[in-house]
Amino acid sequence: MVETIQDWDPERYARNARFVSDLGQPVVALLAPKPGESILDLGCGDGALTEALVAAGARVVGVDASGEQVAAALSRGIDARVMDGMGLDFHQEFDAVFSNAAMHWMRDLSGVVRGVAEALKPNGRFVGEMGGSGNVRMVEDAIRAALSRRGLDAGAVYPWVFPTVQEFRHLLEEGGFRAEMVDLIPRPTPLPGDIAGWLETFAETFLKQVPERDRDTLIAEIRSLLAPKLRAADGTWTVDYVRLRFSAVKEAAGKGKAR
Ligand code: BEZ
Repeated sequence: MVETIQDWDPERYARNARFVSDLGQPVVALLAPKPGESILDLGCGDGALTEALVAAGARVVGVDASGEQVAAALSRGIDARVMDGMGLDFHQEFDAVFSNAAMHWMRDLSGVVRGVAEALKPNGRFVGEMGGSGNVRMVEDAIRAALSRRGLDAGAVYPWVFPTVQEFRHLLEEGGFRAEMVDLIPRPTPLPGDIAGWLETFAETFLKQVPERDRDTLIAEIRSLLAPKLRAADGTWTVDYVRLRFSAVKEAAGKGKAR
């Protein structure tokens, strides 16, 4: 089991990653939350997108593995709890489970899908988006190269999972869902600032493989490997995101493979 070292500082997250919830609006539209529905937001982060579900009139519970992010969500008035997505503890109580930009941190995706199925009422919907196959490949390659020059193996601490359409469809079906849609969507994403801020926010597990005094040099090296590929003439950085977007329905008892 890889131990990831990733802190979620809500202030740093808001500065470098507000686009994550802003770009989640199409996933909310795909879910189409209805007034009075009970919805679980899996990996709710600081609750910025959860607010859109609440605004639609749904009764929403948010869960996140980060205590800091849950505290930020609570301060927005959201019913948020610290809970790991790989250890969900809900039983047939939600009409829908929603997840945006969180599941790629949950390495045991089949455990996640099982927990989601258990959390849903019969015919409940599971709608979300996460990093898919090929996501942030250029960034990942640069990190691997910079760590490798230091005799370190990025694979040993790799914190993410980016499934293919086939892999994810299979996981859903094995977990007792009917997959209505599973799509891979390339989405090159302009950053609000420098790639260094992205690395500090999202790639901490890799950066912490070197002592603190060497971290700025490591970031500078990754940055210079990426500049020719991801930085435009005006200085804007664009990261090679690929989204895996899906919509599924929990099969009625007796139909799916996992019960
Ligand atoms: C993502 O949203 O796809 C993502 C963000 C940070 C690290 C890895 C993936």
